[in-house]
Amino acid sequence: MSQKREILPGFIVLEGIDGSGTTTQLKRLETRFKKLHIRSCFSFEPSNGPVGELIREALSGRFNALPSTIARLFAADRAEHLYGSKGIVDQLKAGKIAVSDRYLFSSLAYQGLTCGEELPAMLNASFPLPELLLFFKLDPDTAISRMQSRKGLEIYENLDFQKRVANAYDRVVSSFDDSGMKIVCLDASNNPEFVEEAVWQAVSAILPA
Ligand code: TYD
Repeated sequence: MSQKREILPGFIVLEGIDGSGTTTQLKRLETRFKKLHIRSCFSFEPSNGPVGELIREALSGRFNALPSTIARLFAADRAEHLYGSKGIVDQLKAGKIAVSDRYLFSSLAYQGLTCGEELPAMLNASFPLPELLLFFKLDPDTAISRMQSRKGLEIYENLDFQKRVANAYDRVVSSFDDSGMKIVCLDASNNPEFVEEAVWQAVSAILPA
Protein backbone atom coordinates (compact mmCIF):
# COMPACT_ATOMS: atom_id res chain seq x y z
CA MET A 1 0.00 0.00 0.00
CA SER A 2 1.55 3.31 -0.97
CA GLN A 3 1.08 6.04 1.64
CA LYS A 4 1.48 9.73 0.80
CA ARG A 5 2.24 11.83 3.81
CA GLU A 6 4.09 14.97 4.75
CA ILE A 7 7.86 14.43 5.12
CA LEU A 8 9.81 16.40 7.75
CA PRO A 9 13.22 17.40 6.36
CA GLY A 10 16.00 16.88 8.92
CA PHE A 11 14.08 14.26 10.88
CA ILE A 12 15.83 10.88 11.16
CA VAL A 13 14.39 7.73 12.75
CA LEU A 14 16.10 4.51 13.86
CA GLU A 15 13.94 1.37 13.97
CA GLY A 16 14.44 -2.33 14.59
CA ILE A 17 13.44 -5.24 16.80
CA ASP A 18 14.46 -5.23 20.48
CA GLY A 19 18.20 -5.85 20.81
CA SER A 20 18.99 -4.64 17.28
CA GLY A 21 21.23 -1.85 18.62
CA THR A 22 19.30 1.32 17.77
CA THR A 23 19.95 2.85 21.21
CA THR A 24 23.71 2.18 21.01
CA GLN A 25 23.87 3.75 17.57
CA LEU A 26 21.76 6.75 18.58
CA LYS A 27 24.34 7.48 21.29
CA ARG A 28 27.25 7.05 18.87
CA LEU A 29 25.61 9.39 16.39
CA GLU A 30 25.00 11.94 19.13
CA THR A 31 28.71 11.86 20.07
CA ARG A 32 29.70 12.32 16.44
CA PHE A 33 27.29 15.24 15.94
CA LYS A 34 28.66 16.93 19.08
CA LYS A 35 32.24 16.61 17.85
CA LEU A 36 31.25 18.10 14.51
CA HIS A 37 29.17 20.86 16.19
CA ILE A 38 26.08 19.84 14.26
CA ARG A 39 23.01 21.39 15.89
CA SER A 40 20.80 18.45 16.74
CA CYS A 41 18.43 16.89 19.22
CA PHE A 42 18.24 13.23 20.15
CA SER A 43 15.15 11.60 21.63
CA PHE A 44 13.35 8.30 21.92
CA GLU A 45 9.96 6.62 22.13
CA PRO A 46 8.46 5.71 24.51
CA SER A 47 9.48 9.16 25.77
CA ASN A 48 10.52 10.04 29.29
CA GLY A 49 7.42 12.24 29.71
CA PRO A 50 4.37 11.24 31.79
CA VAL A 51 2.70 9.29 28.96
CA GLY A 52 5.96 7.47 28.26
CA GLU A 53 6.22 6.59 31.96
CA LEU A 54 2.75 5.07 31.84
CA ILE A 55 3.77 3.05 28.77
CA ARG A 56 6.81 1.71 30.64
CA GLU A 57 4.51 0.61 33.47
CA ALA A 58 2.47 -1.32 30.90
CA LEU A 59 5.55 -2.81 29.20
CA SER A 60 6.92 -4.03 32.52
CA GLY A 61 3.59 -5.74 33.25
CA ARG A 62 3.00 -3.65 36.41
CA PHE A 63 0.07 -1.93 34.66
CA ASN A 64 -1.96 -4.69 33.06
CA ALA A 65 -3.29 -2.58 30.16
CA LEU A 66 -5.40 -3.71 27.21
CA PRO A 67 -3.38 -3.96 23.95
CA SER A 68 -5.62 -1.23 22.49
CA THR A 69 -4.85 1.03 25.47
CA ILE A 70 -1.13 0.55 24.86
CA ALA A 71 -1.60 1.45 21.18
CA ARG A 72 -3.44 4.63 22.18
CA LEU A 73 -0.80 5.54 24.75
CA PHE A 74 1.98 5.18 22.17
CA ALA A 75 0.08 7.47 19.79
CA ALA A 76 -0.54 10.06 22.55
CA ASP A 77 3.14 9.92 23.57
CA ARG A 78 4.13 10.38 19.91
CA ALA A 79 1.92 13.46 19.52
CA GLU A 80 3.64 15.04 22.55
CA HIS A 81 7.07 14.00 21.25
CA LEU A 82 6.34 15.57 17.89
CA TYR A 83 4.14 18.60 18.59
CA GLY A 84 4.66 19.29 22.30
CA SER A 85 6.75 22.19 23.54
CA LYS A 86 10.40 21.64 22.51
CA GLY A 87 9.19 18.63 20.52
CA ILE A 88 10.56 17.44 17.17
CA VAL A 89 8.66 20.02 15.12
CA ASP A 90 9.96 22.90 17.27
CA GLN A 91 13.51 21.56 17.07
CA LEU A 92 13.34 21.25 13.28
CA LYS A 93 11.94 24.79 13.03
CA ALA A 94 14.95 25.96 15.05
CA GLY A 95 17.14 24.47 12.30
CA LYS A 96 18.29 21.38 14.19
CA ILE A 97 18.58 17.81 12.94
CA ALA A 98 16.21 15.66 15.05
CA VAL A 99 17.00 11.99 15.59
CA SER A 100 14.59 9.58 17.27
CA ASP A 101 15.09 6.05 18.55
CA ARG A 102 11.77 4.53 17.33
CA TYR A 103 8.70 6.23 15.86
CA LEU A 104 5.39 5.24 14.28
CA PHE A 105 6.90 2.23 12.48
CA SER A 106 7.26 0.57 15.91
CA SER A 107 3.54 0.99 16.54
CA LEU A 108 2.62 -0.39 13.11
CA ALA A 109 4.85 -3.44 13.71
CA TYR A 110 4.35 -4.20 17.43
CA GLN A 111 0.78 -3.00 18.01
CA GLY A 112 -0.18 -4.28 14.56
CA LEU A 113 0.48 -7.70 16.09
CA THR A 114 -1.05 -7.16 19.52
CA CYS A 115 -4.28 -5.44 18.52
CA GLY A 116 -4.64 -5.93 14.78
CA GLU A 117 -3.41 -3.63 12.03
CA GLU A 118 -6.45 -1.36 11.84
CA LEU A 119 -6.21 0.49 15.16
CA PRO A 120 -2.48 1.42 14.99
CA ALA A 121 -2.89 2.34 11.29
CA MET A 122 -5.73 4.68 12.21
CA LEU A 123 -3.99 6.16 15.27
CA ASN A 124 -0.81 6.86 13.29
CA ALA A 125 -2.31 7.89 9.94
CA SER A 126 -1.77 11.61 10.33
CA PHE A 127 1.79 11.70 11.70
CA PRO A 128 4.37 12.99 9.20
CA LEU A 129 7.27 10.85 8.02
CA PRO A 130 10.96 11.38 8.71
CA GLU A 131 13.29 12.30 5.86
CA LEU A 132 15.38 9.21 6.61
CA LEU A 133 14.43 5.87 8.14
CA LEU A 134 17.33 3.68 9.26
CA PHE A 135 16.01 0.14 9.56
CA PHE A 136 18.22 -2.16 11.65
CA LYS A 137 17.89 -5.73 10.42
CA LEU A 138 18.87 -8.50 12.84
CA ASP A 139 17.99 -12.13 13.22
CA PRO A 140 15.72 -12.44 16.34
CA ASP A 141 17.83 -15.30 17.82
CA THR A 142 20.89 -13.04 17.84
CA ALA A 143 18.86 -10.11 19.18
CA ILE A 144 17.45 -12.15 22.08
CA SER A 145 20.87 -13.52 22.99
CA ARG A 146 22.17 -9.91 23.12
CA MET A 147 19.38 -9.09 25.58
CA GLN A 148 20.03 -11.94 28.03
CA SER A 149 22.20 -9.72 30.23
CA ARG A 150 19.36 -7.19 30.67
CA LYS A 151 17.39 -7.28 33.88
CA GLY A 152 13.57 -7.53 33.93
CA LEU A 153 12.57 -8.27 30.34
CA GLU A 154 9.49 -6.40 29.08
CA ILE A 155 6.29 -8.03 27.80
CA TYR A 156 7.45 -8.05 24.15
CA GLU A 157 10.97 -9.32 24.84
CA ASN A 158 10.67 -13.01 24.03
CA LEU A 159 11.86 -14.95 21.00
CA ASP A 160 8.47 -16.00 19.59
CA PHE A 161 7.11 -12.47 19.64
CA GLN A 162 10.33 -10.93 18.28
CA LYS A 163 10.22 -13.34 15.32
CA ARG A 164 6.75 -12.09 14.53
CA VAL A 165 7.85 -8.47 15.01
CA ALA A 166 10.76 -8.99 12.58
CA ASN A 167 8.32 -10.17 9.90
CA ALA A 168 5.86 -7.39 10.67
CA TYR A 169 8.64 -4.78 10.39
CA ASP A 170 9.61 -6.05 6.94
CA ARG A 171 6.01 -5.66 5.79
CA VAL A 172 5.58 -2.26 7.43
CA VAL A 173 8.83 -0.80 6.09
CA SER A 174 8.21 -2.03 2.55
CA SER A 175 4.72 -0.49 2.62
CA PHE A 176 6.54 2.89 2.68
CA ASP A 177 8.68 2.16 -0.38
CA ASP A 178 6.85 4.72 -2.52
CA SER A 179 6.30 7.27 0.24
CA GLY A 180 9.18 9.57 -0.72
CA MET A 181 10.93 8.88 2.62
CA LYS A 182 14.50 7.64 2.23
CA ILE A 183 14.81 4.11 3.68
CA VAL A 184 18.20 2.57 4.45
CA CYS A 185 18.38 -1.04 5.71
CA LEU A 186 21.41 -1.82 7.84
CA ASP A 187 22.88 -5.20 8.70
CA ALA A 188 22.82 -4.90 12.50
CA SER A 189 24.66 -8.21 12.98
CA ASN A 190 27.92 -6.43 12.18
CA ASN A 191 30.10 -5.06 14.98
CA PRO A 192 29.06 -1.66 16.42
CA GLU A 193 31.92 0.23 14.72
CA PHE A 194 30.90 -1.12 11.32
CA VAL A 195 27.22 -0.30 11.92
CA GLU A 196 28.22 3.19 13.10
CA GLU A 197 29.97 3.81 9.78
CA ALA A 198 26.94 2.59 7.83
CA VAL A 199 24.70 4.89 9.88
CA TRP A 200 27.06 7.80 9.25
CA GLN A 201 27.14 7.17 5.52
CA ALA A 202 23.35 7.33 5.36
CA VAL A 203 23.03 10.30 7.71
CA SER A 204 25.78 12.42 6.17
CA ALA A 205 24.12 11.99 2.77
CA ILE A 206 21.12 14.00 3.95
CA LEU A 207 22.94 16.68 5.98
CA PRO A 208 22.79 20.15 4.47
CA ALA A 209 26.08 21.00 2.71
P1 TYD B 1 12.86 0.30 23.65
O1 TYD B 1 13.37 1.16 22.54
O2 TYD B 1 13.31 -1.12 23.70
O3 TYD B 1 13.14 1.02 25.02
P2 TYD B 1 14.01 0.45 26.24
O4 TYD B 1 15.38 0.19 25.64
O5 TYD B 1 13.99 1.58 27.20
O6 TYD B 1 13.33 -0.81 26.72
O7 TYD B 1 11.28 0.37 23.56
C1 TYD B 1 10.49 -0.29 24.48
C2 TYD B 1 9.53 -1.23 23.80
O8 TYD B 1 8.44 -0.49 23.28
C3 TYD B 1 10.09 -2.07 22.68
O9 TYD B 1 9.77 -3.43 22.92
C4 TYD B 1 9.32 -1.60 21.46
C5 TYD B 1 8.05 -1.09 22.06
N1 TYD B 1 7.31 -0.09 21.25
C6 TYD B 1 6.07 -0.42 20.76
O10 TYD B 1 5.59 -1.54 20.96
N2 TYD B 1 5.37 0.51 20.04
C7 TYD B 1 5.85 1.74 19.82
O11 TYD B 1 5.17 2.57 19.15
C8 TYD B 1 7.15 2.09 20.33
C9 TYD B 1 7.69 3.46 20.11
C10 TYD B 1 7.85 1.14 21.05
